[in-house]
Amino acid sequence: MKILAINGSPRTIRSTTRLLVQSVLDGATEAGAETDIIDLCDLRVTPCTACEGCSFNGICVYDDDVPALVERMKGADGIIFASPVYIDNVSGQMKIFFDRLADAIHYQLLFGKFGCSVATTHTSGGDEVVAYQNHVLNYLAVVSVGGISVATGGDSSAAETRSEDARALGRKLAGAIASGYSDPGQEEEIAGNREFFKDLVEENRDFRPDDYERWVQMGWIR
Ligand SMILES: Cc1cc2nc3c(=O)[nH]c(=O)nc-3n(C[C@H](O)[C@H](O)[C@H](O)COP(=O)(O)O)c2cc1C
Repeated sequence: MKILAINGSPRTIRSTTRLLVQSVLDGATEAGAETDIIDLCDLRVTPCTACEGCSFNGICVYDDDVPALVERMKGADGIIFASPVYIDNVSGQMKIFFDRLADAIHYQLLFGKFGCSVATTHTSGGDEVVAYQNHVLNYLAVVSVGGISVATGGDSSAAETRSEDARALGRKLAGAIASGYSDPGQEEEIAGNREFFKDLVEENRDFRPDDYERWVQMGWIR
């Protein structure tokens, strides 16, 4: 069982968000998972320019580190999004990455995985950023088992005081992967998104026959 965490803080080893998500991963490790963490700022992530090139063949015109990261996400059973709150939202690094996931969203490439979200903030916006990241997981057809946010008030050791809650979240994620987890609300939302993206998959059938065939085999196109 593999769980991959993606950290949107540019502060790498000084990142409070990284500290918190590491506790989530520690909990997952206790429950038998193999874990990994990626700092987005170490990767080349080019902003989407809406050229629509990926909609023809699934390949982005930018030759950077995002395609390899998407492959790593496909190879994981669990995905964690983690970001500091920047002006009431995810960090710019995280948002630029999310925009590059449009094709993975349209074709529901991560269906069947579980995830959760993590945020830290000075004062406010943590729960909202957790909810937003979980919403992106749902766009990707990933069911979230929850999230954790910590408002540090400027004291990074505040994240350590929540380490047991973070570990419990990691154990819950690993448990969902091992034994299944159902959330009818999220499943309904994911099914609704799929119904919406179905038209696109059908429209692009001639360019992307393999993707079309996958949707037929999944029973998403009849
Ligand atoms: C550009 C920037 C914007 C921020 N915006 C907010 C904000 O809107 N609200 C808030 O409470 N904290 C804000 N913060 C504080 C960070 O969310 C907080 O320090 C966070 O724990 C940093 O996490 P990190 O160490 O993982 O990068 C901001 C920090 C930066 C650098």
